Amino acid sequence: MARQTDTGVALQDFPAGQVTPPSTVVRAEALRKYFHSGAQQITPLDGIDFSVERGEMVSIVGPSGAGKSTLLHLLAALDTPTSGAVYFARNLLQDFREAELAEYRNRSIGFVWQRHHLLPDFTASENVAMPLLVGGEPLEEALRRAREGLGEVGLADRAGQRAGELSGGEQQRVAIARALVNRPVLLLADEPTGDLDERNAEAIFQLIEHLHRSHHLTSILATHNLWLARRADRVLVLEHGKLTSGTEVLAGVGSPAAGIGAPAPGGHA
Ligand SMILES: Nc1ncnc2c1ncn2[C@@H]1O[C@H](COP(=O)(O)OP(=O)(O)OP(=O)(O)O)[C@@H](O)[C@H]1O
Ligand SMILES: [Mg+2]
Repeated sequence: MARQTDTGVALQDFPAGQVTPPSTVVRAEALRKYFHSGAQQITPLDGIDFSVERGEMVSIVGPSGAGKSTLLHLLAALDTPTSGAVYFARNLLQDFREAELAEYRNRSIGFVWQRHHLLPDFTASENVAMPLLVGGEPLEEALRRAREGLGEVGLADRAGQRAGELSGGEQQRVAIARALVNRPVLLLADEPTGDLDERNAEAIFQLIEHLHRSHHLTSILATHNLWLARRADRVLVLEHGKLTSGTEVLAGVGSPAAGIGAPAPGGHA
């Protein structure tokens, strides 16, 4: 039986016997993901158990190729696990019907992609409006809300500019506005500062921190940058298929440029 929740998504009743507390927004249980590359099996996630509580900001760090994007994609139901489970609140994603999955992706979560995936020939406001249009919002209202969202990320005056003409930092702001335009519960951001220089990375991180609070979000950020990562409520390290506490890794963080396998600072802005 489906029920309507405050997230706007019609969710399956919670399977009997599960114990996810109501304040838990997302939970992974014995999550595994294998890929096959020729004869080789790659196992980025080899038994992941963790949960994130309402209002928490959690960062996930780990070397390139460790599986951070893979994990975020599973949490976002953009890919399916080889085995194990992902729960959104008390609902097992694998139990969602197609329409519920689409609703979950469109309304319950906001996803900031590692490569922001904007449509370069469309304007900033058209890009931000896209999730609303997909959700059936009339064009005028969608564009009005998109402009409002662009105002929140400091780009009110660039709403009519084509996304391809914006700088890297501005494009990332547009991607963040797009992720939040449907007022999601959960923000999943994959390397939101990855391609930016230090100053722009700091500005984008501050923006996410601000929006996390003002939108009452629960946020999970994947990042190489330990200096930024440690400003989250909790840091987790993904390595060798396992997710562990980042306390030890953080003990050695000394400068803003510190990172795990981070590219040298000085990317484009
Ligand atoms: N669709 C796929 N098919 C085969 N292998 C894949 C696929 N997606 C990811 N992988 C592999 O899984 C591993 C984890 O990739 P993933 O992109 O999740 O790492 P990451 O931690 O996000 O890395 P980065 O920090 O560079 O973004 C890599 O070895 C990658 O090559
Ligand atoms: Mg990645």
